[in-house]
Amino acid sequence: MSAQSPRQILVTSALPYANGPIHLGHMVEYIQTDIWTRFQKAQGNECIYVCADDAHGTPIMLRAQNEGITPEELIARIAKEHQADFADFNIGFDQYHSTHSEENRELASYIYTQLKEKGHISRQKIKQLYDPEKQMFLPDRFIKGTCPKCKADDQYGDNCEVCGATYSPTELINPKSAVSGATPIEKETEHLFFELAHFEELLKTWTQTPGHLQPQIANKLSEWFETGLRAWDITRDAPYFGFEIPGEPGKYFYVWLDAPVGYMASFKAYCERTGTDFDAYWKPDSKAELYHFIGKDIIYFHALFWPAMLAGAGFRTPNAIFAHGFLTVDGQKMSKSRGTFIMARTYLKHLNPEYLRYYFAGKLSSGIDDIDLNLEDFAQRVNSDLVGKVVNIASRCAGFVKKRFEGKLAPQLSEEGQALYQKAIDAKPKIAELYEKREYAHAMREIMAIADMANEYIDQTAPWVLAKEEGKEAELHDSVSTGINLFRVLMTYLAPVIPATAEKAQAFLNLDNWQWSSINKPLLNHAINKFKPLMTRVEPEKIQQMLDDTQKDLAQQTVVPKQTQTPKGQTAVMDKTEIEPIANEITIEDFMKIDLRVAKIVNAEAVPEANKLLKLTLDIGLGERQVFAGIKSAYEPEQLIGKLTVMVANLKPRKMRFGLSEGMVLAAGPGGKDLYILSPDEGAQPGMRVK
Ligand code: 2FM
Ligand code: ZN
Repeated sequence: MSAQSPRQILVTSALPYANGPIHLGHMVEYIQTDIWTRFQKAQGNECIYVCADDAHGTPIMLRAQNEGITPEELIARIAKEHQADFADFNIGFDQYHSTHSEENRELASYIYTQLKEKGHISRQKIKQLYDPEKQMFLPDRFIKGTCPKCKADDQYGDNCEVCGATYSPTELINPKSAVSGATPIEKETEHLFFELAHFEELLKTWTQTPGHLQPQIANKLSEWFETGLRAWDITRDAPYFGFEIPGEPGKYFYVWLDAPVGYMASFKAYCERTGTDFDAYWKPDSKAELYHFIGKDIIYFHALFWPAMLAGAGFRTPNAIFAHGFLTVDGQKMSKSRGTFIMARTYLKHLNPEYLRYYFAGKLSSGIDDIDLNLEDFAQRVNSDLVGKVVNIASRCAGFVKKRFEGKLAPQLSEEGQALYQKAIDAKPKIAELYEKREYAHAMREIMAIADMANEYIDQTAPWVLAKEEGKEAELHDSVSTGINLFRVLMTYLAPVIPATAEKAQAFLNLDNWQWSSINKPLLNHAINKFKPLMTRVEPEKIQQMLDDTQKDLAQQTVVPKQTQTPKGQTAVMDKTEIEPIANEITIEDFMKIDLRVAKIVNAEAVPEANKLLKLTLDIGLGERQVFAGIKSAYEPEQLIGKLTVMVANLKPRKMRFGLSEGMVLAAGPGGKDLYILSPDEGAQPGMRVK
């Protein structure tokens, strides 16, 4: 990335809903975007990173009602919490705003009016379910009932979590309002629609232009074109927390209409604060670049509605939408019941945010695969790379510079030192390209290879030995000055990922910036400051404390339905119930430690005090075992009696509230009703070992 004239870049991350706290799943995106914007700034580009709270919609309105406060009070409180979480994770927004702002009201109304004047808004009478008690129309997610297909109870109004069917809420059997419990009635209302099909040609071109979307996503979108672009309902009836549609009393913009406009509104606030030219970034022929980082579940809104809205209202379209995958924890979907739904604040109470930033960087690529947080691997990787390799270089060299050379680096490096330094900076274009393409994992590997090279050099020259020998002053000075210079190059490369550590390193190295252009020459004759530890090791106890706190958090939390369903009739880009990734590799010896036995279920009964557990009595040929299994949601006890299954027979017995559990039965599936115990084929006998 040679720095000709600086690029002007506007970057956004998706706007988090103002109805709940930030969790580690959110942090993947903010960390990914923040690394990218910090990298751009370090190249000398003018890069502006904006975000905001997504403050409108029914869940926010209802939550405020439940808490007995106004929605404005709720969103003000959440805004503070969100911003504190982001600040503590060192997310360097240039502007953080709210969709419930004057800038957003004006821009959303302007875009709507433009679309209307150009004939892209239509009106249609529709029938929707209405809560007669609460006197409000019900979003699909606020209606629950029995699935019309598989008859599973307690399913949402738009899709069944048990069989995966999608349907309209009027098809639910025995529907109930999740707000009041009343039986909803069908009621007619007039809604305004955005005629997406008017933009079909524009969207086909935009979505298929290389670089605008990741290839997997562009492919998925072509399927959507095949099923046809439907008009988009942009209206919600009062009562609703949002912006009233100009000229349509009692009708509000659907939250997803003004949410992306929130990107512009936040930027507008930035422009007003800094005197930046708003139009220069948003006019149709703008030379400025515009990028949106989002999760793969909200592609539809960003790749279709948003470019169409922008183009229809006379604004430029984005240069690219960068989607990422979801976060899994220890190979599984983040889950409240497993205690892996970790809040940003809970993490921050126990662990250094820089650890997670580095760990995510080490996992992120330009693709949309899910990324896994494996907590053992997390500790191991941070300790070995950041603490063991990078910071260690400085701590191995700094003391000698301070004590033996009055804190000054050598006036020049030896040939070997120069060659190493050259090698480290020769990697710059490659590392820059990897950052630019969001191939952070690959970039981290390249950077760690330089750290390995630096450590090998220090091992070889052994400054601690030179320091004890007579007449080795020059060699010692050369060794530690080379080490410190390599450390500086490494910190320059890593500063977008670990900015707080980089800031401490800046004080130590006596520098005033991390611009990549400034490392072309080593620091010679340069005074450095006293070294203070830059980062400590990850302590496993802290991870455990974070998990314990997570369990406590969950007890206090209610689940709020997300309002980002893919519009009806369109399949989501990625199904949220995905096949879990393969867990960490084990050896055959590890596997052989597990004693799996065929077991006959001779008795099964519900544990009344536990809503998930069945108490099983298992015959394993060598006697009976008692096991408490979390399969109550999927089986009636009677169904199980007499069945053969497989159990882990040598699991250390665990004392539970209801008695001793002496093993574990094997079952597959994500949980809830979707759980299947494993059974051996006919002929297997209790007690046979499973190998
Ligand atoms: O999915 C979500 O969490 C939404 N609040 C994202 C909005 S992004 C943008 F369009 F505002
Ligand atoms: Zn179903």
